[in-house]
Formats: sequence, structure tokens, C-alpha cells
Amino acid sequence: MPSDHAKRRQKLQKLLSREKLDALLVTSFTNVTYLTGFTGDDSYLIVTPDDAVLVTDPRYTEQLEGECPDLALHVRDPGVKMTPATAEALRGVGAERVGFEEDSLTVGSLNRLTEELKGVDLVGVSSAVESLRLVKDRSEIAAIRHAAELARRAFDVVRAAWTPGAAERDLARELEYQARRFGGARLSFAAIVAAGPRSALPHATPTSAKVGDHDFTLIDWGVFAPLYASDLTRMVLHGAPSKKFERVYNTVLEAQLAGIEAIRPGAVCQDVDRAARDVIEKAGYGKKFGHGLGHGLGLEVHEGPRLGRNQETELRPGMVVTVEPGVYLPGWGGVRIEDDVLVTKSGHELLSDVPKRLEDCRI
Ligand code: GLY
Ligand code: MN
Repeated sequence: MPSDHAKRRQKLQKLLSREKLDALLVTSFTNVTYLTGFTGDDSYLIVTPDDAVLVTDPRYTEQLEGECPDLALHVRDPGVKMTPATAEALRGVGAERVGFEEDSLTVGSLNRLTEELKGVDLVGVSSAVESLRLVKDRSEIAAIRHAAELARRAFDVVRAAWTPGAAERDLARELEYQARRFGGARLSFAAIVAAGPRSALPHATPTSAKVGDHDFTLIDWGVFAPLYASDLTRMVLHGAPSKKFERVYNTVLEAQLAGIEAIRPGAVCQDVDRAARDVIEKAGYGKKFGHGLGHGLGLEVHEGPRLGRNQETELRPGMVVTVEPGVYLPGWGGVRIEDDVLVTKSGHELLSDVPKRLEDCRI
């Protein structure tokens, strides 16, 4: 039985034949991990129509024996730079028409490679591996589910120990500590903990501001566990909600539920965004929701497909997206609610599980 990684390489190899490429040079380390299971970096994968070879260096040979023992290696001498080593490996497989990942390879590396590989046709390729990554297999879905579970556990601890005197950055640090304590490798991104007016900044950096000095706090966090990401946002409310908070929160929650409800195979990404955006526009906050509804989630915390305007991708079973509408009112604050959602054969399934009714926000 081929491994999940071998199956992914086989799919890519079919794509190579269609594009009449003798090889694809995979330089995105994330894509290399997706295709091989190798979790190190500084290594490129050359995929040919019926084989694959990893250009790597001696720091990784022992790790590679453990992570992908069947993979062919081209181990460069520490004195040989990456480009000549890659060129040598490409010459070794006799490739004359070579695709390269144009969204990953730097201009400098391409120039050096062109210089080394005179007579070889180098063809820019966009999103070949990323198009495969859109649809997750069973092991990937399990990994994202686990990442969402670790995010919940970290949040539960932080919430239980919540004190008004805590600074935004203390809470961000505690989230990270708890996520790691439960087995996460790291946070998916630097946690956003933003109290009161700072929550109007969708990507606020935590400060020394004390959460208890404000009516509410926005927390946006996620966990890599170990390779796949989760991404959630919840609000914490200090005391009873004001009428304004109640109105904004309920609008965002209704929008999020409408977005989630629209997720099913065949749904077009821009229509899912529209379903949520309609709710916010009807409430009069359309101009205050200045980002897309969500994004794919996997080996990267932001990947395809995108839920947003002009996004014509159709959802397919196995895709995983965030649904995260928000309303941001400068000077007052912002409300965002975010969950991770799997597209199933019959509709959708929530992978994240943190309570989000208005009354659940109260500390
Ligand atoms: N959850 C924040 C973001 O996706 O950018
Ligand atoms: Mn997100």
C-alpha cells in the first residue's frame, strides 16, 4: 500500500505528464513536507513522472531515515551550494523541461539555476502542489481536528484562570504555554489578545493593557499539532453586555452561522462569503467587515481555498476552511467569531468546539 505521501506524489506525477514536464522542482518547504513527510527544511524535492529525489544535506540524513526511509536522496556536500547541487540532481534525472514553483523560488535562485542549467527549459508553475493540498485526506483532517482540540484545551485553562489584572500579553503568553503543555508544537501565529478599543484592529499585537480595564477582549489563536494548524476567535466579556455589544455580537454570530450553513459540496466560495456578509450588511455594518469570510487551513494557517469576494472555487468534500466574520468599530472595539469547518459529502462539520453563545462569553 503506498503511503499517503506516495499517493500525493502520484497525483502530482499525473499533473507533470499533462504539462509535459520531465520534472517539477519543489522548493516550498511546506510542499516538500506535504509530498514526503520530511519536516526539516533547506531541502528541495525533484519529482519526475515516475520517481522523486530529495536534494538535502548531511544535517538531515538521520532524520530522513526515520521520516521517509524510502525516499531517494541527493545529499549535497556541505561545501556545495544548493543551486549547483540541485542542477546536478536535475541533470542526473535527464530532465530537459523542468517546472519550478514560481510562487516560491526566488529570482536570485532562478537566475543561478538558469546559469547552471544552460539548454534546460525552466518553466514557471503556479499552485501545482497547492491545488492538491486544497482537499485534505483522512490523516490531515484528523490532524486539524486534533489541533482544534488542543486550541480548545489551552483556551479553557486561560479562561478559567482569567483575572482582570492580566495584561493582553500575559494572556497571549499563557495561551502559548498551555498549547505547548498539551502537546502542540507552537501557536499557528502570534496570538491576538486585544481588549476594548484595540479589538477594532483585526490583527492587534498584544500590549501591557489590562483586560479588566475594558468591557470585552478578543482572542484569536490557533495551534500547530504538530504539523497542521487550527485557528479560532472568541470574545470574553467582563460582566453584563452593553446593548451595543449585544447587537454587534449577535450580528456577527448570526453571520457566522449563516456562513457555516452555506458550506456544502458545490457551494461557490464567494457565495459562502455572501451568505455571511448579507447578515452584516443588513444590520448596517457592511463597511465595518473589511476582510474575507475565511481561508483554508492545513499545513499553513492561511491557504486555499479563500472564502471571499471574487472567489469562484467550488467547495469539495475534504476542504477545511475558517469562518470568521467580524465587525470593527474604531474607538469602540471589534467582534470576530471564528471556527474551523470541514466540507463533508453531505454538508459540513465543525472541527472546533468552543462555546460561543453570547452568555458563554461572560467571564
Ligand atoms: N484569524 C485571523 C486570521 O486568519 O487572519
Ligand atoms: Mn483565521
